[in-house]
Amino acid sequence: IAIGIDVGTSGTKVIAVSEQGKVLTSAVAGYPMSVPRTGWAEQKPLDWWSGTVRATRTVMGYVVRNVPSYEVISIGFSGQMHGLVPLDNNKEVIRPSIIWCDTRTVQETEWLENSLGKEAIIQYTSNPPLPNFTLTKLLWMRNYEPSLFQRIRHVLLPKDYVRFKICGSLAMDISDASGTLMFDVQKREWSTEMCSASGIPIEWLPAVAGASEVVGYVTESAAKELNIPRGVPVVAGAGDQAAGAVGLNVVEPGTVSVVLGTSGVVLTPTNEPLKDPIGRLHTFCHAYEDRWFVMGVTQAAGGSLQWYRRRFAAEFEQLAEQNNTDIYTLLLEAAAKAPAGSDGLLFLPYLMGERAPHLDPYASGTWLGIHWNHEREHFLRAVLEGVSYSLKDCWGIIANMGLDAHTWRVSGGGAQGELWMGILSSVLGRTLDVIQASHGPAFGAAVLGAQGVGLLPRKGKELDAWFNVGKQSSPDSDWVSIYDKMYPMYRQAYHDLKGLMR
Ligand code: XUL
Repeated sequence: IAIGIDVGTSGTKVIAVSEQGKVLTSAVAGYPMSVPRTGWAEQKPLDWWSGTVRATRTVMGYVVRNVPSYEVISIGFSGQMHGLVPLDNNKEVIRPSIIWCDTRTVQETEWLENSLGKEAIIQYTSNPPLPNFTLTKLLWMRNYEPSLFQRIRHVLLPKDYVRFKICGSLAMDISDASGTLMFDVQKREWSTEMCSASGIPIEWLPAVAGASEVVGYVTESAAKELNIPRGVPVVAGAGDQAAGAVGLNVVEPGTVSVVLGTSGVVLTPTNEPLKDPIGRLHTFCHAYEDRWFVMGVTQAAGGSLQWYRRRFAAEFEQLAEQNNTDIYTLLLEAAAKAPAGSDGLLFLPYLMGERAPHLDPYASGTWLGIHWNHEREHFLRAVLEGVSYSLKDCWGIIANMGLDAHTWRVSGGGAQGELWMGILSSVLGRTLDVIQASHGPAFGAAVLGAQGVGLLPRKGKELDAWFNVGKQSSPDSDWVSIYDKMYPMYRQAYHDLKGLMR
């Protein structure tokens, strides 16, 4: 069996996949995200580790009981990108990780832009300066926590820390390194220009590896904790978007991965590093040596629905518990009672600022056009529609580069809701392959591990057998005409309101 570990934002997911590509079992262990101030977001690396231990033990418990004469052949990784894990001389964590959705580093981002110039930064790294990217978090530590900053000797990303706990060696893969703003995405190596211009010692950065490259082996102590045999090969893995795309077999141009996780992503592979000249898209290395991808990110996609649930859905919470039903099923049932277009109610999902298309950390969430006749269901449906418009915005930038796609695959928690998929496919005007929850980044991580030890090729029938597309969702023509009218209003709304979003 191949094990895939995805160190996510809400928890670590561990999956066991058979040598024929069948998901045998999976488990998730959650952990908190602390928001000490508006716009801040931190997690403790040791929480990721204990989540990984718990989920892996659950998975291995199942495997030991149910899979006769099993053999663990590899461990692969996926993880939330961009989060800063600073380690000292003894490779101890110096402070909680400042993670991807933390936007405290607006000033550091502006400093980079003003002192180096946005064009130069895009030239060095293929990406614009954004508060999400790791470099800005390092600069924040330099400004506000100088004594802690002085102690830094190594910089890792979230999954790399967990991998370090498992095999004791420091490494980072090229797809995840792409999101640090210290990596030359075109040349696939650390950017000496970026590091020296921003004053970050390049020797803090670990050696970079290919996503399916073996970078270590399970140590004796990790073996005991995880209940996995010692010496199992561990591959570098990939950032969650690259790993997720591998998990959906979105590795060729002409295919698209849309992820409805906490954040929302529209990603398409390319044969060269294509850049949006004003940096609205991320241009990152894909998991394979001859591929890149461009992607647009909506900060709060599933996150908008999670937010709604926490703030406004107490009685749904109770109902779900009484009936032993999933709360999101109930929320979507309620949303389905409102008509397409939510009777004119618009939602702008900028609850955590926005990346594509606005690159505006000050953007904020809005319900616009509220009338007396709007029920709670309208507000809920407007959230689903607003997130879908935002994903359409992401695709619009990609399409403007002259790219198109014949295959659209949607995954993530949000993809499990039929109503949401119906809305999204009507907003995009595309038929969507809806991928089961099991085939996300953790599955991609398992694929990378199996490829790394030579069990699985990168192409061909054997690989195809690992992927089976489930349901499809197609546009509803009535909805399409409504959304085609609402979408320009949605776009107009941000432009008219942005002066008030401070
Ligand atoms: C990608 C991004 C998110 C995080 C969290 O740029 O910020 O996908 O990796 O999942």
